[in-house]
Amino acid sequence: MTVDEIVVVENLVKKFKDIVAVDGISFTIKRGEIFALLGPNGAGKTTTIHIIATLLRPTSGRVFVGKYDVTKDPNKVREKIGIVFQDPSLDNQLTAYDNMYIHGRLYGLRGRELHEKIMKLLEFVDLKEYAHKQVRYFSGGMRRRLEIARSLLHEPELLILDEPTIGLDPQSRAKIWDYIRMLKKEHDMTILLTTHYMDEAEELADRIAIMDHGKIIALGTVEQLKAMLGKDVIYLTLEGNAKEFCKKLIFAKDCHVIGNNRIELLVDNAPRYLPEIFKIALTNNIGIREVSYRRPTLNEVFLHLTGRELRESSEETSSIIQRLPLRRRRSR
Ligand SMILES: Nc1ncnc2c1ncn2[C@@H]1O[C@H](COP(=O)(O)OP(=O)(O)O)[C@@H](O)[C@H]1O
Ligand SMILES: [Mg+2]
Repeated sequence: MTVDEIVVVENLVKKFKDIVAVDGISFTIKRGEIFALLGPNGAGKTTTIHIIATLLRPTSGRVFVGKYDVTKDPNKVREKIGIVFQDPSLDNQLTAYDNMYIHGRLYGLRGRELHEKIMKLLEFVDLKEYAHKQVRYFSGGMRRRLEIARSLLHEPELLILDEPTIGLDPQSRAKIWDYIRMLKKEHDMTILLTTHYMDEAEELADRIAIMDHGKIIALGTVEQLKAMLGKDVIYLTLEGNAKEFCKKLIFAKDCHVIGNNRIELLVDNAPRYLPEIFKIALTNNIGIREVSYRRPTLNEVFLHLTGRELRESSEETSSIIQRLPLRRRRSR
């Protein structure tokens, strides 16, 4: 383990009787990064973070947080981490303040120091004016923000968020994303999050581990994951002979004319070839009027790796709606 690593997971396995929830995964998280475990339901994400958070014991393999082994020094590990669970864990009958207060006392905070921390954190998540309202009146987004504030009370070095925006509306999701970014940027927080939303992983994470059936099937930056497919498409609108130009782009895996002076070419890495394309245009005296490119989506990456789709959030909502039983029409 090097000083810039805060989490090291080595050959981690977790079995529940004959179910292999985590099947021999290894990864490290660097200080100050946002690391996402991305995968469908049942992939083993929650089990993995529960082991990191010392709530479950590994069947085999080793996990370190800081320099501490989660099975040998669980108390030291707990001091270093804050966690927001997938399922809500607030007391609805209590106020926001009191939910924070009890948590603070559990961590040995008290008095003026605790009070000031609570108010500062409630302010951070824009809930100061609701400090003395009962949580049962809060929206889903407000609850999530309160849970994040609460998890920060004991000043952890690593914040673990299990599906931080599950079930939230787009505005609330965007707000949670803002706090996560702020925590990284302004407070140097290391964040480990799990999600089954590709847009969330893409939006937030410095590095993503794609999990499926208990295994990590790919790990890297969004750019690296997309580059695995080698399928960037570049669109060019030219002033000049498009067909001739295509012939000159020998590095393209495919190139064809798709209309009025417009070409579409397939390359393994668009940013790498764009300067080359401009150079060739210049030497051949062909003007480029418009250029754009698209990289594969993370869904396409997942499809490539597993042969299945990992659905986008919006699709998922609609499929849930579709699954609702239709109410029988009242006959007139
Ligand atoms: N306490 C448990 N007992 C038995 N099986 C479990 C338990 N927790 C999780 N599992 C199983 O382990 C697998 C991974 O679950 P989980 O870690 O919750 O996945 P994810 O968070 O990616 O949806 C699933 O098949 C799940 O049913
Ligand atoms: Mg989960």
